[in-house]
Amino acid sequence: MIPPRPEPLAQPRLGLLWFARVAHSWLDALTVKSYHMLLGQFRLPGMRVFVVNDPAWVERMLIAEPHNYPKHRLMHEALEPLLGSSPFTTNGPLWQRQRRMLDQAFGHARLGRVFGLMQQACNDMQARLQAGTLDVDGAMTHVTADIVHRTIFSLPLLAQEADTLFGAFTRYQQLAQRAVFLKLLRLPPLWLNRSKQRQAAIIRGFLAARVRERFASRSTDDEAQGADILAGLRSAVDPQDGSRLSETEVLDQICMLFLAGHETSASALSWCLYLLAESSGLQQTLRDEVAATTQGEPLQAGDVRKLVQLHALFREVLRLYPPVGYFPREAVADQVIRGSQVRRGDALLVFPWLLHRHRRFWVEPDAFEPGRFDSQGSADPPKGTYLPFGMGARACIGAGFAMQEAALILSTLLQHHCLRPAPGPAPRVVGRLTVRSADGIRVQLEALHAGAAHD
Ligand code: HEM
Repeated sequence: MIPPRPEPLAQPRLGLLWFARVAHSWLDALTVKSYHMLLGQFRLPGMRVFVVNDPAWVERMLIAEPHNYPKHRLMHEALEPLLGSSPFTTNGPLWQRQRRMLDQAFGHARLGRVFGLMQQACNDMQARLQAGTLDVDGAMTHVTADIVHRTIFSLPLLAQEADTLFGAFTRYQQLAQRAVFLKLLRLPPLWLNRSKQRQAAIIRGFLAARVRERFASRSTDDEAQGADILAGLRSAVDPQDGSRLSETEVLDQICMLFLAGHETSASALSWCLYLLAESSGLQQTLRDEVAATTQGEPLQAGDVRKLVQLHALFREVLRLYPPVGYFPREAVADQVIRGSQVRRGDALLVFPWLLHRHRRFWVEPDAFEPGRFDSQGSADPPKGTYLPFGMGARACIGAGFAMQEAALILSTLLQHHCLRPAPGPAPRVVGRLTVRSADGIRVQLEALHAGAAHD
């Protein structure tokens, strides 16, 4: 089965109209050659950009020499109003300190400890779901935001709060993408920066109130008892100088975790549900696997890694629709890459979207084939060709978290429901901050009667 994908262009296009289209979805810029080449190059006003598809160079940039390829300054400019100063965009010693503190907070709120909080959010999702047409993006965004909110604050996210935050975040994404493109064209940002600030203020204001409550009500020593991420951040101590994070620093980390921690997972899970609806056989296989693992009891933290088929599905979906489709780095020195002269300041793009569908590295790259990743499938893909969570020092801190929540959400859904395709055209894939469907994804939800899962 070949699931929805954008048709690549035969030739690159130029001109303002095309540029405006790419500002809407970067996937529209990709050509047939993009999926074959090992190094590509294009020029924007005042900036040269290289697309690095060579796995050896990807490994060098991300694993061997990450300090020589820091995150690109445009990322920081686009996201700073929302995420403040946090590891998603910072570099050097500042990033190192933030990452040390985050690693402690994640160690503190271990996956096993937050499992119960995730499970409660899944039970609430289950209570909200009704038979009929399901707005998949809305449902997945709500449950993943609720999960990350509970694991940070030990509090559920109410439906009204979720709506306000999603509305502001959707508007922020659109404005940020347009502002970056105007900047690349060296045009003034017009009203975009002020509008961006307004949306960021809605989200940060909401999270700031939560953080303030905690700082006002508990000391860090009381906090150390708690099992959530906020407790972990407040009690983290920098081993290099014994310092702790200030309230503002904590808020920046929380804003980043809240957004990085739900938008990515919601994107991947939405595509999972779409593909599951297309395959009732696969749904039954997964249902059987969950039933055989849990023996009729609720899923336990230790069960998650036993769900081999479910992991294979999730990994294949992350291959076909990597939520973070590309990530931009900057060259700190002049150098030659695969025979091309790269100068200091040039942008280098690492592109999971292209690497995961590259014609040289995958058999039937556009086909949906979860079997590639199960125990019968071939060995792990060669290094540098599969990186939905990035690689090396800057790899995602939440990979285990995302895998655990995906297992919980999907198994909850499949235990109670059967998914069928919704009438209407297939989703149209667009590349924004994450890889999404232009007009949303819908599936038909049918309640499974007791015992029907084994009929
Ligand atoms: C399916 C879900 C997810 C995907 C596909 C994903 C993907 C990524 C990728 C590709 C990067 C590296 C970007 C780069 O190198 O420029 C990254 C970084 C990061 N992610 Fe995730 N992520 C997911 C879920 C999460 C969750 C659940 C959290 C936290 C709760 C999280 C927190 C972070 C953080 C803090 C970083 C920055 C790490 C650093 O630079 O030190 N992510 N993620």
